[in-house]
Amino acid sequence: TTTTTTTTRSTHMRLAPGGDAREFLSERVAAALGDEFGSEFASRSVAAVTVATKSEFGDYQCNAALGLAKRVGCKPRDIASRVAARLPTDVFGIEVAGPGFINVRLTDDFLAQTVSALAGGAVPQTQTPQRIVVDYSSPNIAKEMHVGHLRSTVVGDAIANCLELRGHDVVRQNHVGDWGTQFGMLLAHVEDEEWESVSDLVGFYREAKRRFDSDDEFKSRAREKVVRLQAGDVETRGAWERICALSRIEFDEIYARLGIRIEERGESTYQSMLRGVVRSLRDKGIAVESDGAIIVPGDPLIIQKSDGGFNYATTDLAAAAYRTRRLNATRLLYVTDAGQARHFKEVFRVAKEAGLVPPNTELEHVPFGLVQGEDGKKFKTRSGETVRLKDLLDEAEARAAERNPDAAREIGIGAVKYADLSLNRESNYKFSFDKMLSLTGNTAPYMLYSYARINGIQSKLLDDDVVRGDFRITEPEERNLARLLARLAPTLADLESDLRPNILCDFLFDLSQTFNRFYEVCPVAQADDADQKFTRATLCAATASVLKTGLDILGIQTVDRL
Ligand code: ARG
Repeated sequence: TTTTTTTTRSTHMRLAPGGDAREFLSERVAAALGDEFGSEFASRSVAAVTVATKSEFGDYQCNAALGLAKRVGCKPRDIASRVAARLPTDVFGIEVAGPGFINVRLTDDFLAQTVSALAGGAVPQTQTPQRIVVDYSSPNIAKEMHVGHLRSTVVGDAIANCLELRGHDVVRQNHVGDWGTQFGMLLAHVEDEEWESVSDLVGFYREAKRRFDSDDEFKSRAREKVVRLQAGDVETRGAWERICALSRIEFDEIYARLGIRIEERGESTYQSMLRGVVRSLRDKGIAVESDGAIIVPGDPLIIQKSDGGFNYATTDLAAAAYRTRRLNATRLLYVTDAGQARHFKEVFRVAKEAGLVPPNTELEHVPFGLVQGEDGKKFKTRSGETVRLKDLLDEAEARAAERNPDAAREIGIGAVKYADLSLNRESNYKFSFDKMLSLTGNTAPYMLYSYARINGIQSKLLDDDVVRGDFRITEPEERNLARLLARLAPTLADLESDLRPNILCDFLFDLSQTFNRFYEVCPVAQADDADQKFTRATLCAATASVLKTGLDILGIQTVDRL
């Protein structure tokens, strides 16, 4: 819907059907403040729009007036009235209350348009599309892909899905650890072994490490291998490629099971840039020599070791330059465990200071906590070994199969993902099969059953007879559901800025429960008249569609019937 109000500014955003009423309101309040009191007040933070604290107050509220009174020399109540007079009434029902609050209620007209748009599968779009690189998963070659990488994979994928569905141009990058000194020992070890024995890469890695730590001859041979690999020796490079390929087979199996599509661009691909990065930092006086190594002082970042080798940080500096200068991304996200916070803080600081990335590049570390066992200790198997991802997914599916043999994969994998996504990512997370597979509570099985049920209700309605009428809200439960559906847009906007998938999980859980309350008191097939039937059928269709969109973003595969 477009709105027509007369204001002096001409750059108003449009509110598309299904669009973000909160953002629209913030923008309109900011514009109104600018028109009434001067451009210095035309900001969304001054507008202070929030979700209404109580639904009796409406859907949103604007608290700007009280804070502004002194600055503009005007009574809060008058400020509120002057702003209110400039807000579009086709979208908002407006009331100035108390000492100067503006209570805003979405109009039935707006809700009707939103619900129909959502029923038709609309996804609220961003107003400012960007190219965004999401760096996630990023396991290390020849090492186990562990539960930490699982978290990165699941969280990173949900974030990438959300940004993409909102209209951003998303580049998914798998920054695999396919370079560095660990390859020396792998390459030295593979020389003495049959290639067949490499099928168990992790055992192979362990054995190579044991020899490296205990055998000096082996150690120096390993060092030599690194030098040869970095010098581009063809034979060494060939062996390296075979090791990488074997690792990739295992990673790809996991990605296929999880339904992840991601583009591999490992550390090795930045090799040719590293020398230049170090040189440019030295030329600018940002990096200096210290004990034979090259470091950036401050909270020091080593960018070249005394033996000439480059570091994890050097590669990340090169990668940041590549992503902004070559891929033209303006926002770079890095989804890793919280333990790497210092690394990224320093890398971002140096990348900006050295001009490796354009000044307004948004660089964000998206940290997450540890995965723990139910006892709160490090996540291990009963016999004390690290848990293999493959075994973990097998068990989740096997447990799901006990109840639902036909949807074991969707429920099992969905449960593992949802358990992770529904929590604040920065907390440590206690892994529990029983909890994640529970049918009640904020879990994947609950969400999948809800979706299947609502989907069943709505598709049956449309099959039974063509529903036609006017969208007319009469019952409070209808309005409650409609206003919650309209909150999809601000929820996705929050996810886009805060990068917290649990915001979306909470919303979907709330939506399922609100739908249940609606369906209990509002019969659809036996509605009183055609308009009521149409209204309720549209609400059902919109709920099914929003649940589907939400679960798609979370990377959770739905089942139509359960
Ligand atoms: N390979 C690293 C690890 O396993 C994660 C890499 C994250 N991405 C990056 N650009 N540093 O911890």
